[in-house]
Amino acid sequence: MRGALITVEGVEGSGKSTQCRRLAALLRGRGLEVVETSEPDGTPLGQAVRGLFELEPRPSPLTQAFLFLAARQEHVTRVIQPALARGAVVLSDRYTDATLAYQGYGQGLDLQTIHELNALATGGLLPDLTLLLDLDPGVGVRRIAGRPLDAFERMDQAFHHRVREGYLELARADKRRVLVFDAAREPDLVHADIARAVDEFLGRRGAPRGA
Ligand code: TMP
Repeated sequence: MRGALITVEGVEGSGKSTQCRRLAALLRGRGLEVVETSEPDGTPLGQAVRGLFELEPRPSPLTQAFLFLAARQEHVTRVIQPALARGAVVLSDRYTDATLAYQGYGQGLDLQTIHELNALATGGLLPDLTLLLDLDPGVGVRRIAGRPLDAFERMDQAFHHRVREGYLELARADKRRVLVFDAAREPDLVHADIARAVDEFLGRRGAPRGA
């Protein structure tokens, strides 16, 4: 049986990595094989691509999309598809929606173009479920203050607000797939809601095989 692809999205500082870690531990505790991964870092190529966003002048939004999509194609081919074929749950910190939110809504790149590029890069592999951690970007920025910031984290507040609104728009357009969680709350409360939603989702589709 094919596994399940669950993606986690949100603005900077929304707590994605913490929630991914906790959800992975929960699912493993239930005997499922879980592959925790992220974009763009999920492959060596993706890790190499990350540094290119720091170049000056900053790559254009379309160039950024090409770079993220090159990383996505490697990620899908080398990590995600093989894991799904084994029946694993793949938990990816960012995936297709990130390009729509950051390069599309955030920087004005045509959304239809991004949809087409996403389809090409992923061979049409859509997430089965997307957990959107929604947070006021002002709160997110305060949470990450003090650590070195990457090129996107350094962008202005207006950009981060467009990204947040873009994610919410994507959630409104696909309510069945994208579930929105209020990430301003205590991490324990967010985790409890996510755990409930993922249990429901796995129950609905018939849980993938255990490890
Ligand atoms: P992070 O998720 O580890 O913070 O780093 C990824 C950064 O790259 C984050 O600022 C969002 C950005 N990004 C895009 O702009 N487009 C994409 O398609 C992806 C996957 C990430």
